[in-house]
Amino acid sequence: MVIGAGLDLGAVVSGELEGGLAAILTDSGVGPLHAPRVAAALEDAGWRVADVVEVPAGERSKGLAAYAEVVGRLARAGVTRDATLFALGGGVVGDLGGFVAATFMRGINLVALPTSLLAMVDSSVGGKVGLNLPEGKNLVGNFLRPRLVAADLDWLETLPERERSNGLAEVVKMGLLSGGPYFEDLEKIEAARDRDTEALLTLILDSVRFKARVVAEDELERGCRAILNYGHTIGHGLEAAAGYALPHGEAVAVGMVAASHIARERLGEDLVALHEDLLFSAGLPTKAPAIEPEKVLAAMARDKKRRTADGSNEHRFVLLEDVGEPVWGVPVGEEEARRAIGAIVG
Ligand SMILES: NC(=O)c1ccc[n+]([C@@H]2O[C@H](COP(=O)([O-])OP(=O)(O)OC[C@H]3O[C@@H](n4cnc5c(N)ncnc54)[C@H](O)[C@@H]3O)[C@@H](O)[C@H]2O)c1
Ligand SMILES: [Zn+2]
Repeated sequence: MVIGAGLDLGAVVSGELEGGLAAILTDSGVGPLHAPRVAAALEDAGWRVADVVEVPAGERSKGLAAYAEVVGRLARAGVTRDATLFALGGGVVGDLGGFVAATFMRGINLVALPTSLLAMVDSSVGGKVGLNLPEGKNLVGNFLRPRLVAADLDWLETLPERERSNGLAEVVKMGLLSGGPYFEDLEKIEAARDRDTEALLTLILDSVRFKARVVAEDELERGCRAILNYGHTIGHGLEAAAGYALPHGEAVAVGMVAASHIARERLGEDLVALHEDLLFSAGLPTKAPAIEPEKVLAAMARDKKRRTADGSNEHRFVLLEDVGEPVWGVPVGEEEARRAIGAIVG
């Protein structure tokens, strides 16, 4: 991953790939702001940009209809097997573009150009690409390594503040899981929220390194990669119970606080206030008052049923024994989960 403020994108790309046929995939939030400069930089570096495909901004574009639209456009633009797809946008464009690159003509090159903080710290690392179905999120997908990931910090200048906080939720998550110097760097979280370039760069590099290390140990997600789901078990339940009106980062923030309540009961270590302070500095909520706990539990049960054949009503949680000491696969019964949810909705 190449990252910096004011990247010379043409030079960075030429360092990895020989110029040729390119297509750019972006969304309606990012495209008008950044695509023309990216296209110009590629053309200056000797690429021919066959098409700039813009999907509507938002999670709905990570679906079958958008996928069909994009591959159709590429086919009509004469994009060939040796072409490179540049996915310029947040996690939605990254996941959709990755799935397009993995499948169009049985696979073309992918260059990821993450523009949201979440995409820089999380979704552009680890090679997961995919789509949502009406039946659920991320139900279709694959693993694909981009040829290059390049992120210009200047792109973050236009990112709305709520989206910045969303990305910081995953930063707080990984800092807590990692412990050590990364955890200490979380003191820069408030500065990062205020768009301080040095703080952002530090925390992005920390996150990318940490996630890459975890993923390298468990690329196909059979073991320790599960720790990255910290805060996500209840977080996903909250998102679904709120009809996806609660942004992912906010749901994960509240989900981590809930997990810290379970850990306090189970393991005795009280990290609740630490979680709340860090999330507050990141501009994130620590409670989700307008949501019914039973709806969250029902959504969690559906989520689990979709993923495992284990018919019990136990959930598998990631908990922190201490900062930097995650344990995963911890069975948590429904009553215990209900109490934790009660603590964050009450
Ligand atoms: N593949 C993975 O490993 C992985 C990991 C985590 C999340 N994800 C996926 O990522 C998606 C969420 O990503 P996201 O939070 O980036 O959402 P997103 O892609 O929808 O971007 C959020 C919003 O910010 C706008 N935006 C992005 N960059 C901008 C910029 N520089 N300036 C102005 N506006 C900008 C977008 O247009 C969009 O409206 C979800 O679909 C999630 O499932 C994937
Ligand atoms: Zn997440």
